Amino acid sequence: MDTKIMTIHGRDGVFSCEEEQALREAGEVLRSGGLVAFPTETVYGLGGDALNPESSRKIYAAKGRPSDNPLIVHIARMEDMAAVVSRVPEAALRLGQAFWPGPLTMVLPKAQRVPRETTGGLETVAVRMPSHPVARRLIACGGGYVAAPSANLSGRPSPTSARYVIEDMAGRIDVIVDGGDGDIGLESTIVDLTVDPPQILRPGYITQDMLSEVLGQVSLDGTILTADSGQAPRAPGMKYRHYAPQGELIIVSGQVGEVTAYINAHAAQDQAQGHKVGVIGTDEALAGYRADLICSLGSRQDEESIARHLYGILRRFDDEQVTRIYSECFDAMGLGQAIMNRLLKAAGHRLVELDSNREQ
Ligand code: TXA
Ligand code: MG
Repeated sequence: MDTKIMTIHGRDGVFSCEEEQALREAGEVLRSGGLVAFPTETVYGLGGDALNPESSRKIYAAKGRPSDNPLIVHIARMEDMAAVVSRVPEAALRLGQAFWPGPLTMVLPKAQRVPRETTGGLETVAVRMPSHPVARRLIACGGGYVAAPSANLSGRPSPTSARYVIEDMAGRIDVIVDGGDGDIGLESTIVDLTVDPPQILRPGYITQDMLSEVLGQVSLDGTILTADSGQAPRAPGMKYRHYAPQGELIIVSGQVGEVTAYINAHAAQDQAQGHKVGVIGTDEALAGYRADLICSLGSRQDEESIARHLYGILRRFDDEQVTRIYSECFDAMGLGQAIMNRLLKAAGHRLVELDSNREQ
């Protein structure tokens, strides 16, 4: 299949005539059952008409994704939520007012018209209204309801830039809309409103504290930040080893000096055994590492930078065929909860805790 690439920036929400024309064309592709990858403020999505079971089947096929892993339905207007859920609870309205458009996904009982192909066989549906202007205009042009998982091949990090979407999806889908790099870099927060108290199934930019301010008590799916507990997470997609780099990733926690010494010693041993070794560090510690490829996520003080750069760096290590990766560890508070959740998943939960850290 020939994949058409369209470049549409319109970040401020204003589109040129050519861009508007291109968005309508891409919208037509969605309406007629085709697939369009598009930018959002989190990561790129791989969109199809959420109300068309055939489109959802095509999405699973293009990603190489198991079809029991439900898709998020993206809408462009708050009032469209009512069309895809069986009932809009008060909590959903309050969250929508506080955080939509934006990086928050709500799980609610589904309306009949949403096919089970889209919800992976579940009776609930995940709904999100993204804030990226290109996403919103495309959703409106595409009929209003766009099912979209992240636009990566299953098992690869979610794409934060159109070039990664091209790497994974060129030849597999109809259109890729290049709208520049994502601001946030990690997927949306998912909150399940079908349970009491509401529960975070996937942490993201909208933190537990932010949700609690609006809803009162909000719990967190306990499997998300722990080492392997043997229990399956409640969001079906969270059980797969997503976000996985091709090299083995090990997270090291402890005091800065200890972490650097541990990583350097192990990197040297690994190199002696023929490994190509990468380090995921922060600006503050970067100069101390010795390895084949050393990348900074930004300043340790700047969690937004860490979130934005994580997936790109994991992809870079794949490109450079790094076979062993060591990463610094981050506090799992606020946005750090989402960062550590993704890092732990990428590492298959391999975390080395150095002694003096344990005694703190
Ligand atoms: O930021 C995002 O959410 C991005 C952009 C494109 O919007 N999308 C995204 O979609 O990350 P995806 O498919 O990669 O992740 C969706 C997650 C999966 O873990 C899936 O299992 C969960 O949402 N999910 C979807 N519907 C669900 C439901 N009804 N109940 C529980 N979990 C659900
Ligand atoms: Mg994904």
